[in-house]
Amino acid sequence: MTTDYDAIALSYPNELLYMVYVDTYTYFQLIGDVRGKTVLDIGCGRGEASQRLKLMGATHVVGVDAFPKMIQLAQQEEARTPLGVEYRVMDVMTPQKIGEFDLVVAFSVISIAPTREALFNTFQTVAMNLKPGGRFVTVGLNPEQRPETYKLIDKYGIRIVNPPPVKEGDLLQAIAVVDGEEIFFEDYYFTRATYNEGLAAAGFSQVIWHEPQISPEGIAQFGHSFWQDFIDSRVSIYLECVNTGFGQKKQ
Ligand SMILES: C[S@@+](CC[C@H](N)C(=O)[O-])C[C@H]1O[C@@H](n2cnc3c(N)ncnc32)[C@H](O)[C@@H]1O
Repeated sequence: MTTDYDAIALSYPNELLYMVYVDTYTYFQLIGDVRGKTVLDIGCGRGEASQRLKLMGATHVVGVDAFPKMIQLAQQEEARTPLGVEYRVMDVMTPQKIGEFDLVVAFSVISIAPTREALFNTFQTVAMNLKPGGRFVTVGLNPEQRPETYKLIDKYGIRIVNPPPVKEGDLLQAIAVVDGEEIFFEDYYFTRATYNEGLAAAGFSQVIWHEPQISPEGIAQFGHSFWQDFIDSRVSIYLECVNTGFGQKKQ
């Protein structure tokens, strides 16, 4: 079972407090300067980050997503406001190469993989599409968030509703409330050790687990202490990985 993103393509929320003021901010801090670079955005959704990367000066941006409705909405926006971003339907959990990019990015995508094989395959897809020395930056739900902190994070726009996961592959279910409407997301529990193993198997020799960064706007608007529960609860992960050129190894 995974989330039907076609069904929530229009209502998919990327304006949740923690996304705006912490996760998206940290993501773009880690992505850094993209001028002159080629970028692949996997699980691009409606393409908001792809558009932003192109506007930041990337020479070529390709956004891929497995759900056709998401790609259709991204293409409609591209037709309305042409930036030269290319979009295509692609399942990143089936390893495949569509090019060689300086950077592969993924926001809120990796934890969707429901099995160890799907997770490792996603990392293989990333590695296969990177130039040697290219970087992979990903931000998303922390499957290992401690269950006793679930009750602390409602105020940031997300509620985790599953019982504590016991074994790898267990369902993690989150609810975002947007304009009174509850939107359910299904993600899956894998340990940090399994993420590291999958990344190593794909050829990433350097894997850096970063800390969240609160944006200046987030601090100005809510104060620093408002974010402390978010930081302590370890809601999200922030990963930067370097492909050494020895990728595409078989598991
Ligand atoms: C939580 S949303 C994030 C969307 C986008 N990155 C953003 O931040 O706005 C996850 C995205 O991953 C896509 N997705 C789910 N499974 C996928 C797969 N196997 N291959 C590619 N995309 C997938 C969904 O359609 C959805 O757009």
